[in-house]
Amino acid sequence: MTRFIFLGPPGAGKGTQAEILADYSHIPHISTGDILRAALQGQTPLGMKAQFYMDKGELVPDDLVQDMVRERLSQDDTKYGWILDGFPRTVLQAAFLSLLLDELDQLQVKVINLDAPDNVVMSRLLERGRKDDAEDVIRRRLEIYRSDTAPLIDYYQQRKLLVVINGNQTPEEVTAELKSAVSS
Ligand code: AP5
Repeated sequence: MTRFIFLGPPGAGKGTQAEILADYSHIPHISTGDILRAALQGQTPLGMKAQFYMDKGELVPDDLVQDMVRERLSQDDTKYGWILDGFPRTVLQAAFLSLLLDELDQLQVKVINLDAPDNVVMSRLLERGRKDDAEDVIRRRLEIYRSDTAPLIDYYQQRKLLVVINGNQTPEEVTAELKSAVSS
């Protein structure tokens, strides 16, 4: 099994662990946040549209992100697997992904739910200080996570695809739990 989706609140460690798992499994790490930030830095039309939402901690509209994911998952390096980090983030995005994977004949996936409490993720993000890591923006990201993204936990649990990993441990402990979960 080499197709993974990382779920979890902002600051849970999705990017950190997805990168490690990607190296370990020799598959690409596809972070929608990173793709959007690169587009923003390159001042592309997508980046300019996304900035308005990202600066406020809001979700970028589904159609923009879905086009981006469709394009990325159609590239050659995704043939033998991939890790999606930050997508899907809404039930509509999950439904889109399910159709896309059907179309690409990539049906088997495992969903990793990396969980950590709000106070822990808040202090991690304040310490990191990315542009969208200001306290009020983090609060908004957490609200949106709860309202729009957390329902995906049930969505994937019902489909028996979910694995829960405790993100409130040292990075090394999280990695150990993750590697054991993905190899079982
Ligand atoms: P995105 O970049 O996906 O941000 P996020 O989900 O808020 O996630 P973060 O990158 O903040 O946290 P993470 O869980 O990856 O943790 P990390 O490993 O970085 O999205 C940004 C924005 O893009 C969104 O707000 C939205 O606007 C837009 N967007 C993206 N995808 C979208 C989509 N699908 N639909 C619509 N809009 C979308 O770690 C965080 C910090 O904690 C680091 O400093 C790290 O070193 C540290 N850390 C990690 N693990 C540990 C640990 N175990 N112990 C201590 N410190 C740790």
